[in-house]
Amino acid sequence: MYTIPFLDLPPLRAALGSVTLPGSKSISNRILLMAALAEGRTEIHGLLDADDTQVMLAALRSLGVAWQRDGSVVSVQGMAGRVPQPQAELFLGNAGTAMRPLAAALALLAARDGGDYQLRGVARMHERPIGDLVDALRGFGCRVECLAQEGYPPLRLHGPSSLRLDQPVRVRGDVSSQFLTALLMALPLVATRDIVIEVEGELISKPYIDITLALLARFGVVVRREGWQRFTLPAGCRLRAPGVVHVEGDASAASYFIGLGSLAAQGEPLRIDGVGRDALQGDVRFADAAAAMGADIRLEPNALLVQRGRWPLRGIEWDCIAIPDAAMTLAVMALYADSPTLLTGIGSWRVKETDRIAAMATELRKLGAQVDEGDTWLRVHPLRDWRAASIHTYDDHRMAMCFSLAALNPLIASAPVPVRIQDPACVAKTYPEYFETFFGLVQADAADVPVVCVDGPTASGKGTLADEVARALGFWVLDSGALYRAAALAAQRTGIDWQDEAAVAALAATLPLRFLGGRVLLDGDDITDALRDEAIGLGASTVAALPSVRQALHALQLGFRRAPGLVADGRDMGTAIFPDAALKVFLTATAEQRAERRHKQLISKGIPTTMAGLLADLQARDARDKTRSASPLKPAEDAKRLDNSDLSIEASVQQVLAWWAETRPFTGKD
Ligand code: DC
Repeated sequence: MYTIPFLDLPPLRAALGSVTLPGSKSISNRILLMAALAEGRTEIHGLLDADDTQVMLAALRSLGVAWQRDGSVVSVQGMAGRVPQPQAELFLGNAGTAMRPLAAALALLAARDGGDYQLRGVARMHERPIGDLVDALRGFGCRVECLAQEGYPPLRLHGPSSLRLDQPVRVRGDVSSQFLTALLMALPLVATRDIVIEVEGELISKPYIDITLALLARFGVVVRREGWQRFTLPAGCRLRAPGVVHVEGDASAASYFIGLGSLAAQGEPLRIDGVGRDALQGDVRFADAAAAMGADIRLEPNALLVQRGRWPLRGIEWDCIAIPDAAMTLAVMALYADSPTLLTGIGSWRVKETDRIAAMATELRKLGAQVDEGDTWLRVHPLRDWRAASIHTYDDHRMAMCFSLAALNPLIASAPVPVRIQDPACVAKTYPEYFETFFGLVQADAADVPVVCVDGPTASGKGTLADEVARALGFWVLDSGALYRAAALAAQRTGIDWQDEAAVAALAATLPLRFLGGRVLLDGDDITDALRDEAIGLGASTVAALPSVRQALHALQLGFRRAPGLVADGRDMGTAIFPDAALKVFLTATAEQRAERRHKQLISKGIPTTMAGLLADLQARDARDKTRSASPLKPAEDAKRLDNSDLSIEASVQQVLAWWAETRPFTGKD
C-alpha cells in the first residue's frame, strides 16, 4: 500500500479484468460489535481488514473481549452483555461506525452495571456531531458527558444510574442514521421490557437501517418496525451468536469499479465480485444511478458486470439520500457526461470524514470543471478541457478513491493529463489495497507512463537510488542489470558459453523470470543471492556486450513500463530502452570511490577482498561497458549528471526528486 506524500496517476485509457471487493465496513463493524455483545462465539469470514475495523477490534480488546484472527477468519467470544473491563479509554480514530454504537452500548451498560469509559478519536472525529445520540441516551437515564464541547466527542460514559425505558425515546433521523443504528444494536442489552424508538424528521440513509435490522435478525433480535418512524425492541430479546457469518463485499467500494467499468471497459465487462443482486447494502443501488448515466450493468447474485454503454455518459438528476457514500463517485463520473449532473439529498456529506460537498467542489474545479454547490446539493458540468491537478484528499478515503477515475480523462479530454492524488494512504480507512487493485485493472499507453532512468557505471549506487526514488513515487522498479545477470547465470547453469551469442540470445529471449517482493525467481528457483555473485557480474558484462542478447532482452524491459510509473536503472535506460523518459539521471562517481564502497559492502558481508583487486575489476568492467559497440555506457544527451561521490543516499534521492518535480505539469503546492 502507498504510504507516500502523493501518487501520480498517468492518463489511463481502458479497464479490463476482475476484482474481489474487500469486506463491507458497515457490516464488518456492526457484526464485530454484535458478536462482542452477544452470548456465544461468532466466527466472522471476510471481515474487512482496514483502519476502521482495526480501531473497533482494538477497542473490543481494551474492553476485555476475547477475539482471535486465524487467516482471514476472526472469532469473537461474546461477553453476553457484561463488559469484563469496568474502565477503559478507547481511541476510535475517525470511525463513526465504531464511535456511535460503542457510545450507545457502553452508556447503557455503565448505567446498568456501573463502569467508566472514555471514547476519543482524531481531531476530525471531535468535529462530527453526536448530540442527538447523546440526548437520546440521557433520555434513558445514562450519564453521558461531552468532554470538550457539548454535542461532540470525546465522551465520558459512566454509571451506575437508573435506566428509564418505559417512555419511547426520540432520536433525530436527519443527521446520521448511525444514531438510530447505535440504539438498535445497544438496546437489546437492556430490553427487559418493550423499548420504543421514535424517529424525528425524515430518516436519511434508510438502507443502512435495513442492514442493521437484517444483522440484528441474524443475531436473534427481531425488531418491529412501523414505517421508518417507530421501532420496537421486544421485551426479552437478546443478542445470540449465529455461529458463522460472512461479510459481503463493500458496496460503496464497488462504486469506483462500477464507475471504472462504465467509463473504460469496452467489449468485455469488468467483473466485480462480492456484491450483487442479493446484497444487504443499499449502496448497491448506486448501480441504478450509473445505469441511468448510461453504464451497461448486469447483476448476478453476488457479482456485478459493468461495461461502457452510452458514451459520453448522460447527465442525471439523482436523489442520493439512499446512497450517500457511493454518490461521491457520481460527481466524478459527471465530468464524462454530455450534460450537467445534479446530485441532491447529500446534506450528510457535510458531517462525514470531511465536508465532502466543499471538498468535492474545490477539487473538481482544480481539474477545470464548473461546479455549483448548495447546502444539500451539487451540480457538476461536463469537462473537456482538463487541467493536470493535484487533488487534496482531506484525510478522506473516498475523495482519494473517487478521484482516481479522473485519470481516465483521455477518453474524453481534448488533451490528456495526469492526476496527482495527495496522501494516497488515506484509503487505508476502508480499502488499504485500493490503488494496487486499481492499477491491476487499468491500461495506459506506454508513452503516457512516466519513466525515471538512473544509468551509471558499476557500483555507483544506481540500484539503491532507483529503489528509493521508486519508493518515494510509488513506482515500479526495473533493475536491468539483473536481467543480464540472470541471462549469464542461466547460461552457466545450462552449460552455454558466455561468448556463444546465438545460444545466449535464444536463452535470454525466453528467460522464465519472475520478480516477487524483492526476490528474483528463475524457473521457480530463488536466484536473488546468486545474481549478486561477482563472477556472475563479470558474466553479465560479457553477455551484455553481445548485440543479439541486448535485442532479446529489449521487449522484456519495455514490459516493466506500467502505471503508475517506472524507475529503471542500468547502463542504457536513457539512451536505448526508454529514450522518451521524463527524467534521465547519469551517476558519475569516480572508480576509486566506487571501489571503496564495494569494498566496504563485501567486507561487511564477510567476503574477503582487496581494494586493488576491486579497482582493477571495476575498471575492466567500465572499459568493456563503455567500449562495446552495442549500447555502450554513456550518458544520454538530455541526462542530468549526478556525482554522488560525496552525497548521502538521502541527498541523492532528494536531488532526483527535485529534478522529477520540475518535469511534472502540476502547478503550485496544492
Ligand atoms: O548493474 P549491474 O552491475 O547489475 O550490471 C551487470 C552487468 O550488466 C554490467 O556489467 C553491464 C550490464 N548491463 C548492461 O549492459 N546494460 C544494462 N542496462 C544493465 C546492465
